[in-house]
Amino acid sequence: MIDNLRNLFTLALNQAFGDNVSNIDPLVVPASNPKFGDYQCNVALSLAKTLKQPPRSIAQTIINNVKLDDFCEPLAIAGAGFINIKIKPEYIAQQIKLVYQEDHLGVTKVDESYPVIVDFSSPNIAKEMHVGHLRSTIIGDSIARILELRGYDVLRLNHVGDWGTQFGMLINYLRTEKPEVLTTANAVEIGDLVTLYKQAKIKFDQDLEFQEQARQEVVKLQSKDSESIKAWQLLCEQSRREFEIIYQLLDIKLTERGESFYNPFLPEVITDLETANILTEDQGAKCVFLDGFVNKEGNPLPLIVQKSDGGYNYATTDLAALKYRINQDKARRIIYVTDAGQSNHFAQVFQVAKKANFVPENVDLVHVPFGLVLAEDGKKIKTRSGETIRLKDLLDEAVNRAKLDLKNRLETEGRNETEDFINLVSKIVGLSAVKYADLSQNRTTDYKFSYDKMLALQGNTAPYLLYVYVRVQGISRKGNIDLNNLNSDTPILLTEESELVLAKHLLQLDFVIKEVEKDLLPNRLCLYLFELSQKFNQFYDQCPILQAEENLKLSRLILADLTAKIIKLGLSLLGISVLERM
Ligand code: ARG
Repeated sequence: MIDNLRNLFTLALNQAFGDNVSNIDPLVVPASNPKFGDYQCNVALSLAKTLKQPPRSIAQTIINNVKLDDFCEPLAIAGAGFINIKIKPEYIAQQIKLVYQEDHLGVTKVDESYPVIVDFSSPNIAKEMHVGHLRSTIIGDSIARILELRGYDVLRLNHVGDWGTQFGMLINYLRTEKPEVLTTANAVEIGDLVTLYKQAKIKFDQDLEFQEQARQEVVKLQSKDSESIKAWQLLCEQSRREFEIIYQLLDIKLTERGESFYNPFLPEVITDLETANILTEDQGAKCVFLDGFVNKEGNPLPLIVQKSDGGYNYATTDLAALKYRINQDKARRIIYVTDAGQSNHFAQVFQVAKKANFVPENVDLVHVPFGLVLAEDGKKIKTRSGETIRLKDLLDEAVNRAKLDLKNRLETEGRNETEDFINLVSKIVGLSAVKYADLSQNRTTDYKFSYDKMLALQGNTAPYLLYVYVRVQGISRKGNIDLNNLNSDTPILLTEESELVLAKHLLQLDFVIKEVEKDLLPNRLCLYLFELSQKFNQFYDQCPILQAEENLKLSRLILADLTAKIIKLGLSLLGISVLERM
């Protein structure tokens, strides 16, 4: 609808003002307040200067020229020159029928598909997978799902930190402390590796001889010494098993392509930067000086790409990865999902890549930063004894609490359910509560992790949304109606205000999805679904469904079923599955 309006207003502008306004955006947006109608066209104000006319008279000329094919009420000018647009209920009813018959419920596909990379999750071998990685996993997965639905060819990449000097340190430590880990699979409990890593780091920081030995280990590893490589592979496998548990629980699909993958391409990055004439030597290190980044003294900041000992670093790997993704994967949009603490890193890497001509005009590089997850007291999330929380424990806790809530509710309602039902419901409710609590926040801000809030049945929470879906399935069970077989030729009747309000909202899905595609803010989809749930509940309160006369009943059943289908689709884009009963 909004695209349609945009086209019609563009035509009107060309007709009214000709070349003076060619290629101008007609600025059609959803109305800021329902009392102004459904949409507004705000272009008259921005044209006043160019056309040297008062905005209200420009607005009138636009109105005289626009042909809205009878699907809108007569247009009205408001305030300084806004044009308010109100869609006729008959048109809404028609559109509802069309959308209801479509598989994608009104979500359109991109005109031209191309490869998009979402680089997300990306934990580090032998280190803790922390809440930051959890956020990246949840947000990245949702972005990938939305772009997939739009028809892009999405490559979900796990840029695992699987290479670097820390392996020399760890291998050297294990050689004396727990040598079996270096030669046999599964020789260490999941999680203990992290403890060993921490001990190794302590030793490394104190013991000079140990440091030297660790360096020798790095050299052996880099020269592909077969025993070292074997040990490294085992360590990677141990960690991978731990990550896999989280991915399975959260239903995350990822292709692992860790940092080590790009090792063969690192020397070429240096030659490329040399050829592009942007490489400088500074105290033995090779670096590129950056525009717009200065140190405390105000001097330009360098991005180091090769250390004085010849080693490469995180930035070099990202430059190699970027080149590979553009040239081999043919990616046209590369999206990196990490905490906001890495914003400078990406800005610097992108700048250097552009200076080195790695990035063609039609390729878009985007860093998607996010804030911190805090405990309810605003501090870092910790266990009671003050240690960092294991992600598995955090997710298990959400499921356990959901189970307690459910059991209480069953008892109050006098319901008797099987153990299987209780397990399924608490798993879905617990995990979706965690995902939704994260995704419903504007990702750029920090948020407080609260089991109570995320599991509440009221408010902008996963359980509130899941409940709307369940409610619709309940109507179908109660009325003995197969929702998959509703006669879609039934006329849609929008006589009550709450029906019309719901119907209009149901038609906004495509617009919202496109907004998320552009801004990569999944919280907009959450807000849409939350508002949809509220509007549905209002409709449900005010409009009898099963008791209504036959035509009205069918029309209302379609509205209810379309609501449920959109909730299901919308939640699936957030990585959340629905329940038939809860
Ligand atoms: N492994 C990194 C970390 O834990 C995140 C990697 C993000 N992706 C990238 N291409 N740099 O912070």
